[in-house]
Amino acid sequence: MKVTVIGTGYVGLVTGACLAEMGNHVLCLDVDQRKIDILNSGGIPIHEPGLQEVVRRNAAAGRLEFTTDIAHSVAHGTLQFIAVGTPPDEDGSADLQYVLAAARNIGRLMTDYKVVIDKSTVPVGTADKVKAAIAEELAARGVDLEYSVASNPEFLKEGAAVNDFMRPDRVVVGVEDERAVLLLKALYQPFTRNRERLLVMDVRSAEFTKYAANAMLATRISFMNELSRLAERLGADIELVRVGIGSDPRIGTSFLYAGAGYGGSCFPKDVKALVRTSAETGLPAVLLNAVEQVNDEQKLVLVDKLVKRYGENLNGKTFALWGLAFKPNTDDMREAPSRVLIAELLKRGASVKAYDPVATEEAKRVLVDAEGNTLAGLSFVEAANDALEGANGLVIVTEWKEFRSPDFDTLAATLKDKIVFDGRNLYEPALVRASGLEYHSIGRQ
Ligand code: NAD
Ligand code: UDX
Repeated sequence: MKVTVIGTGYVGLVTGACLAEMGNHVLCLDVDQRKIDILNSGGIPIHEPGLQEVVRRNAAAGRLEFTTDIAHSVAHGTLQFIAVGTPPDEDGSADLQYVLAAARNIGRLMTDYKVVIDKSTVPVGTADKVKAAIAEELAARGVDLEYSVASNPEFLKEGAAVNDFMRPDRVVVGVEDERAVLLLKALYQPFTRNRERLLVMDVRSAEFTKYAANAMLATRISFMNELSRLAERLGADIELVRVGIGSDPRIGTSFLYAGAGYGGSCFPKDVKALVRTSAETGLPAVLLNAVEQVNDEQKLVLVDKLVKRYGENLNGKTFALWGLAFKPNTDDMREAPSRVLIAELLKRGASVKAYDPVATEEAKRVLVDAEGNTLAGLSFVEAANDALEGANGLVIVTEWKEFRSPDFDTLAATLKDKIVFDGRNLYEPALVRASGLEYHSIGRQ
């Protein structure tokens, strides 16, 4: 099938590459010339395991192409996926300007039947707005063309995006006319056959399903983070409690890890947007407001522990920081808990030596002052152990695999205060302490 994907970010690029992998002829459009140049020269603009190979293979086969030419992209695909950003507006609602701009371009330039598919995470009712935007453009041209608008929310996780797309738990398609249903069923059949995992529903339910899924996952995390605070006060161990409750199949083991708070481009913004949608309907979101509040507080949990140990004034102290990205296996810094932590440590006079296996370049881009210089007191190093040199203590924010088995004797010998603050509960406390280190983690004694 001929497919256009609008937006070559984390979702658009993975969607385009994986659809090409199944033999479709995919054209990816972006307004960012830099990204398209990188893609056309054989690279990829993000870190996503396995994606480079899929992109290379399909580009070489001529099935995957990249362009900034809007007319070319509209002409190419019968299926037009919109996978642009939907960042939070000032009031927390999803900003639809990029989605609607993409829709207007389609209406302005289309000459034959199109299925326009919202893959971006968009509030319930957006498909109607997309439909209206296209209708307006067609009316302005004085032409009458047939088109369908569908919702196909994406559930991939960064760091595992290619696998999630190629082997989805489910594919949700919200669509209201038979012609589009047939095309989307055919497109997704290779990804869902043998598993009956294509869920066709009405458009509004599909749009809502995406927010409901992310809100549920964020709620589980905030719930565990709240329990972790209670566990510390009660003398219990949240890791044992996690296993204790997760073994009940009604609860399940996933997404029960207490930590330094959830970040990323989805949970924070989607919870905010759902809170906003809820308020607009006159139904204040009591639970989701609490989920957000707990998470905001949780991003400060490591700072609280540091302050409790050292006092408010951290002047003259240096901390090694392991992990900048919001989670392992990505270079994404959006809403990363490390950003809050770094700002708070610097505010109190501390210096921070930060290390991340892949997110350092992105961190250098976003952790800057008004003049665009790296924040005063913050520096970046090339290896995990380099961060330890001259540091009073180590703070771990992201659970990269390479942090899981450090040499605790080296840590004890290098860190001036022999102290580790672990925001992801990576270690067995007794093992760390056996090396003479002081160890602070989340929800444990
Ligand atoms: P992103 O910021 O990485 O990429 C968006 C891309 O769209 C950018 O490259 C931007 O230049 C491009 N763009 C903006 N306007 C355009 C236009 N008019 N025409 C062409 N290109 C345009 O965003 P992302 O992380 O891929 O997220 C995209 C959407 O998918 C969001 O709604 C997000 O909530 C949702 N989503 C993201 C994830 C994730 O893990 N990142 C997972 C599921 C859903
Ligand atoms: C999320 C959803 O999982 C995915 O389905 C959706 O399409 C996009 O949003 P992503 O943001 O890539 O994916 O990462 P995810 O693995 O969900 O982690 C989000 C945040 O929650 C991270 O900061 C992570 O550290 C945190 N987290 C996750 C926890 O704190 N505890 C957990 O048990 C799981």
